[in-house]
Amino acid sequence: MHFRSILPLSLLPLSLLPLTTLALRPRDERVLNTTVLILGGGMTGVSAAHSLAIDRNITDFLVLEARHELGGRVQQGKIGDLNIELGANWVEGLGTNPIWTLAQKYGINNRYSNWSNIDYFTEDGWQDETGSLAQALTRYEEDVFIKASADAGRRKALGLPDLSMKAGLRVAGWNPLTPEERAAEYFSHDWEQAEPPVESSFIGTIEVYNETFIEFGNSDNHLVIDQGGYKQVIIKYGDEIPNFQDKVLFNEVVETIEYRSDGVTVKTASGLTVNAEYALCTFSLGVLQHDDVAFEPALPDWKQDAIANFHLATYMKIFAKFPTKFWNDTEFALYADADERGYYAVWQSLDAPGFYEGSKSIFATLTSDAAYHAELQTDEEVQADFVAVLRDMYGAENVPDPIDFTFPRWTLDPLFRGTFTNWGAGVTVKQQDDMRAPVGGDAETERRLFFAGEHTSRKYFGYLHGAFFEGRMAAHNLGDCVLFNCMESDGTTLAKRDAMEFELNKVGATHGRLRKRMWG
Ligand SMILES: Cc1cc2nc3c(=O)[nH]c(=O)nc-3n(C[C@H](O)[C@H](O)[C@H](O)COP(=O)(O)OP(=O)(O)OC[C@H]3O[C@@H](n4cnc5c(N)ncnc54)[C@H](O)[C@@H]3O)c2cc1C
Ligand SMILES: *[C@@H]1O[C@H](CO)[C@@H](O)[C@H](O)[C@H]1NC(C)=O
Ligand SMILES: *[C@@H]1O[C@H](CO)[C@@H](O)[C@H](O)[C@H]1NC(C)=O
Ligand SMILES: *[C@@H]1O[C@H](CO)[C@@H](O)[C@H](O)[C@H]1NC(C)=O
Ligand SMILES: *[C@@H]1O[C@H](CO)[C@@H](O)[C@H](O)[C@H]1NC(C)=O
Ligand SMILES: *[C@@H]1O[C@H](CO)[C@@H](O)[C@H](O)[C@H]1NC(C)=O
Repeated sequence: MHFRSILPLSLLPLSLLPLTTLALRPRDERVLNTTVLILGGGMTGVSAAHSLAIDRNITDFLVLEARHELGGRVQQGKIGDLNIELGANWVEGLGTNPIWTLAQKYGINNRYSNWSNIDYFTEDGWQDETGSLAQALTRYEEDVFIKASADAGRRKALGLPDLSMKAGLRVAGWNPLTPEERAAEYFSHDWEQAEPPVESSFIGTIEVYNETFIEFGNSDNHLVIDQGGYKQVIIKYGDEIPNFQDKVLFNEVVETIEYRSDGVTVKTASGLTVNAEYALCTFSLGVLQHDDVAFEPALPDWKQDAIANFHLATYMKIFAKFPTKFWNDTEFALYADADERGYYAVWQSLDAPGFYEGSKSIFATLTSDAAYHAELQTDEEVQADFVAVLRDMYGAENVPDPIDFTFPRWTLDPLFRGTFTNWGAGVTVKQQDDMRAPVGGDAETERRLFFAGEHTSRKYFGYLHGAFFEGRMAAHNLGDCVLFNCMESDGTTLAKRDAMEFELNKVGATHGRLRKRMWG
């Protein structure tokens, strides 16, 4: 395959290209053929490529990525001179979490992040850990959540229907009324799931919590503080794949995905056409929901329903650098706004001891409606709201104007359309299976276009490790098609195999775990 000789042309400024070269290369001339085409160079795409090449020895594949680098939702921005993480930032749950293994293997700098190290603020000002806000948080974490967890486990075991998280918490005795109770609930629930309890599945929320914070064997979170970026986990994992740099095509925005019983044809905005025997689409749930890519034929109704019913939540970090550090050495600040639940409620210092000391930088996180609202505001309006809350918290006289200010608009970005998946109340396991299910011809041996991403993870939706496991899972399923014509290696049909019960360890993968079917 000699596309490398073609590709650099698209990177040259037009003025450097002889006119004849352009004339000889009309938009639609560039056609590549490959066995497997991976769409998207985030964690899922790179994990799938790694598994295809290294676990299954399938080396004829290509990756198409719209951006200029690997990483997807793991990407950096800048505040002052400091590189910061606009997307994923924590390794959540250590222990056997494969991302933790990789972060250590690649020497990516990180530090224990203490989610209990909080300064508390209400509209009446600062409180210590004996105040009403800390008390509300303690009650939620140490009483209500424990009861709710056990109840969700009981309901799952009995096969009872799911509830909303709101209802599950109410059954556990939690009826938040005060600003402090509402802020405590926001910090414990929304700040992790990025949607409010009423929109979240009860069993799904507890289950995803248990899998990451209990089953990995170490519930700690480490914040990546590496100027090279958290994305190095993905880039260095890619570097382990032989000749990977020759297989990834950057700056290629996929516009159409045509699937048939005998293959897949993908066209990009630059005029590239790729024919593949099989393809794996790892675009975010939001990209699928917003019709940013055209499928030909349209995806079947059962799949469109599943895509529509899942939630891609939004978790928006807003960063500022100030001329002075007017806040304490505490890692977090929690603010209970009297009127609007979750309004600039959670603050995180980058200047805390052991992090980027001296950076005079801090960020707030908005989720859901507050984030959607801010994305539609101008930068100046967002900065004004951000500073106004800090002035309420720390006193107007102590808070100068920021010297730098930045935030991403994830929901408006056609490459993402949100940040990570939340399991919505009323969403079924069957719908997730439908979202993951391949399409192609009618017969099972005609599966051609596969789907994977953090959103297809039963146990770890929303997390980087979810994307890691799903990419590998998809590579195994797709690999069975490449190697055995979509049959088991012994020639039996795959039809009865539940993807989630497939044991990854059987092909010698290092991080494999037996994945059991969850609720429903
Ligand atoms: C703000 C934020 C905070 C997060 N915090 C954490 C955290 O602390 N810890 C954690 O574990 N997880 C966190 N996550 C979740 C984690 O980042 C994701 O689960 C994971 O990165 C998803 O990987 P993916 O490969 O499934 O999807 P993506 O990373 O979205 O990869 C898909 C790729 O497809 C590309 N693409 C999209 N459309 C097209 C197109 N038309 N043509 C070509 N390419 C296209 C995209 O550019 C992208 O590179 C966070 C995410 C965000 C956004
Ligand atoms: C790609 O495959 C098609 C048929 O599937 C064939 O007609 C074409 O010549 C191939 N192109 C290249 C560049 O190999
Ligand atoms: C991988 O496949 C190639 C052919 O594509 C073959 O030459 C090689 O021996 C295989 N390696 C392993 C470890 O099976
Ligand atoms: C986390 O912070 C809390 C509150 O400041 C403190 O009591 C606790 O010891 C800290 N935990 C660790 C492991 O540092
Ligand atoms: C989650 O873990 C807790 C504590 O081990 C357990 O009581 C509960 O049953 C689990 N819940 C679910 C839904 O798995
Ligand atoms: C932390 O900050 C608040 C508000 O700025 C202040 O009132 C309080 O005394 C500080 N506490 C410590 C321990 O520095």
